[in-house]
Amino acid sequence: MSVNQVQPKLIIHGGAGSSIKGKEGVEAVRQSLHKVIEAVYSLLLTGVPASEAVIVGCKLLEDEPRFNAGTGSVLQSDGQIRMSAALMDGKLQRFSGVINVSRVQNPIELANVLQDSADRVLSDFGTAELLREINAPVYNPMTDIRLQEWMQERQENFTKAMAGVVAEKPLVTSSEAGRGTIGVVALDTQGNLAAGTSTGGKGFERIGRVSDSAMPAGNYAASKAAVSCTGIGEDIIDECLAARIVVRVTDGLSLAEAMQRSFAEAKEHQRDLGAIAIDETGVISWGKTSEVILAAYHTGEQIGDTVEWTGEDLIGLASAKISG
Ligand code: GLY
Repeated sequence: MSVNQVQPKLIIHGGAGSSIKGKEGVEAVRQSLHKVIEAVYSLLLTGVPASEAVIVGCKLLEDEPRFNAGTGSVLQSDGQIRMSAALMDGKLQRFSGVINVSRVQNPIELANVLQDSADRVLSDFGTAELLREINAPVYNPMTDIRLQEWMQERQENFTKAMAGVVAEKPLVTSSEAGRGTIGVVALDTQGNLAAGTSTGGKGFERIGRVSDSAMPAGNYAASKAAVSCTGIGEDIIDECLAARIVVRVTDGLSLAEAMQRSFAEAKEHQRDLGAIAIDETGVISWGKTSEVILAAYHTGEQIGDTVEWTGEDLIGLASAKISG
């Protein structure tokens, strides 16, 4: 990194919801998150743009069956997997995404393809056409754990509001339902921001339900800040959370103030959600109204995570210098 370059920053998440059962589960999630942080941060240090780092991070998280995105996505009420993903480049302030796409390994790659398209958000039928157009191999993202989870719910007549935040064995019970999604936010050596989010949805939802993850409510980036959300999509949409935080920072609030205010409002409205964020000065932040948000970050000086952060605080912050 040369002297006039920025020290990159990175934060990722693997969902928000109820705390993970047992130390073994905590350590497994921590390891998965830290592995991705290390790989993507090394890439940022080579000078790749934030959007590229975000895509690589999202792909690694989509490929980790533990998390509810790509491989390991939850099943909808009809037993099918339909995934959604979005990418937003903060420098260009350009959003692209796919809604309810099936039979693809990395939905975030489709969002990336659409960045340069005149039509930048596609839904189910359009995404299938796009997959054919780019000759994407047919891929089945279903895992045994998610299939068993669906079969158990089917026996119980779909009483659970959502599937587990992470795929855990033995299966989570309905009182421990979670809200899985993955997300990556990065600040690159040029000082540019990007955000990406990908999800299998809530799990057990009715066909045609649209997730927040491919909306500016769930994923948003501009020159001053970038945010990726997780949690119950309907709650995130009602708060328009990602765009709300970014606009507040753009209008002059610090990221800490924007996060605190937005999460206080979300708590007052009894929402169940979480978010990760970075601003142009290199401040990293995370927030939750749910019990836990599974996030990890790299400040340039240290790696940290929120896997066991279950306190009453609504937000957390990490910062380190950004000049070289
Ligand atoms: N936040 C993921 C979903 O509700 O679809």
